[in-house]
Amino acid sequence: MNDGRYRAALIGLGRIADTIDDEVIGDGWLVPFSHMGSYMDVPEVQVVGAADLYAEQREAFGERWTIPDTHLYENYEEMLEREKPDIVSICTSAAPRAKITLDIVRMVRERRTDVKCIWVEKPMATSLEEADAMVEGCREAGIILMMNAMRASDVYYRRARALIDEGVLGKMLQITAHGSGSLSHMGVHWLGAMCVLAGENERVSWVVGEVESDEKAAGDADLAGNAYLAFENGARGFCRMLPSAASTWTLDAIGEHGTIHLRNANDGYEFELWKMGKVTDDAPATPVRHIFPRPQRIWSAGVGQVKDAINCIETGKTPNCSGDMGRHLLELAIAIRESHRRGNVRVDLPLPDRSLYIRSAETLSGDTPRALVNPMRRRPAHLISDIARREGIGKRRPVS
Ligand SMILES: NC(=O)c1ccc[n+]([C@@H]2O[C@H](COP(=O)([O-])OP(=O)(O)OC[C@H]3O[C@@H](n4cnc5c(N)ncnc54)[C@H](O)[C@@H]3O)[C@@H](O)[C@H]2O)c1
Repeated sequence: MNDGRYRAALIGLGRIADTIDDEVIGDGWLVPFSHMGSYMDVPEVQVVGAADLYAEQREAFGERWTIPDTHLYENYEEMLEREKPDIVSICTSAAPRAKITLDIVRMVRERRTDVKCIWVEKPMATSLEEADAMVEGCREAGIILMMNAMRASDVYYRRARALIDEGVLGKMLQITAHGSGSLSHMGVHWLGAMCVLAGENERVSWVVGEVESDEKAAGDADLAGNAYLAFENGARGFCRMLPSAASTWTLDAIGEHGTIHLRNANDGYEFELWKMGKVTDDAPATPVRHIFPRPQRIWSAGVGQVKDAINCIETGKTPNCSGDMGRHLLELAIAIRESHRRGNVRVDLPLPDRSLYIRSAETLSGDTPRALVNPMRRRPAHLISDIARREGIGKRRPVS
């Protein structure tokens, strides 16, 4: 394996651990998107082990990355004890996430392993109790917990954040997002992006929500909805997660002096900066588009997350998307549903009832690996992905 000074390991070897790069290749996403691909692009990291319950998943993963069988595990506790990783990715669905996190916490406390940072997929958990236990357990054991609402580490969002911090937009007034999908599973990305643009991981103090139906609101399965958000710093937000047609995946971050528009912000990087300006000195001020000052060094959001993990380990900084923020995003999804349940009223955060939960969308069909449910999902064949492959994009380097 290569000579990185940080040892990484992965638990759950499916799409987001690896094969998602095959799905997005050639579109607007910067790859690597996957955890494994992202680790491979950061020279300070060497991947020392990988675990999955399914032999098929372990074999496919080992073959892609030339990882010897001796570093592939069915039992993640055995892997953690033998490989002693510094950073661990938990890439299972949300269902076993809290248990796995707390198993790592216990093993660190028992000095059976020495994990410094856990990078969990989204959503963080299904219930607030689970999320509380994850945040508290990691805090007490001195483990950094970060969650993969990865726009927080995207270089364009970081650039937008830096511009806002420097006062280019003035005081933040409003964040408006048109997303799509369910509140817990996909809302993490939209609500997370809104929190990044409102402030440095600005938190929401209260919400008013409406979800797709009373019937859905009464259940515990993931669901779509809209919400009005009151951020702690006084900014306000509106998030549409009901269908948004061609406006889907757009965001407006509106400040007193300017606006950052994000167009097609799921798989494109159309960042626009608008400020008030005058055509002539005596003309009234009108909105003027400026070139968004693009970041000079570009890497994928996944690579940004790995770099952030290292930065957190070395400097003690808080992750761009911390476990605490991951819990807040879960709490927001639940609060939007609670608002609807109570007649679309204001709901204050934090929620006192920690037993509340949402079964996030990806947990609803069980924990059979997606590749075994739908093997065709791995490789979309279209002209753009073919061109990208010819350009060598997404070519995997073997682990040496
Ligand atoms: N950040 C993103 O944009 C993004 C994108 C895709 C998926 N995800 C998230 O990633 C998570 C996984 O989704 P996926 O599509 O990769 O699923 P997947 O089914 O492809 O992979 C999950 C893997 O976890 C394994 N697993 C489950 N329980 C385990 C355990 N106890 N020990 C070891 N392995 C275990 C399964 O066998 C499977 O191989 C989901 O929570 C999903 O929301 C995030």
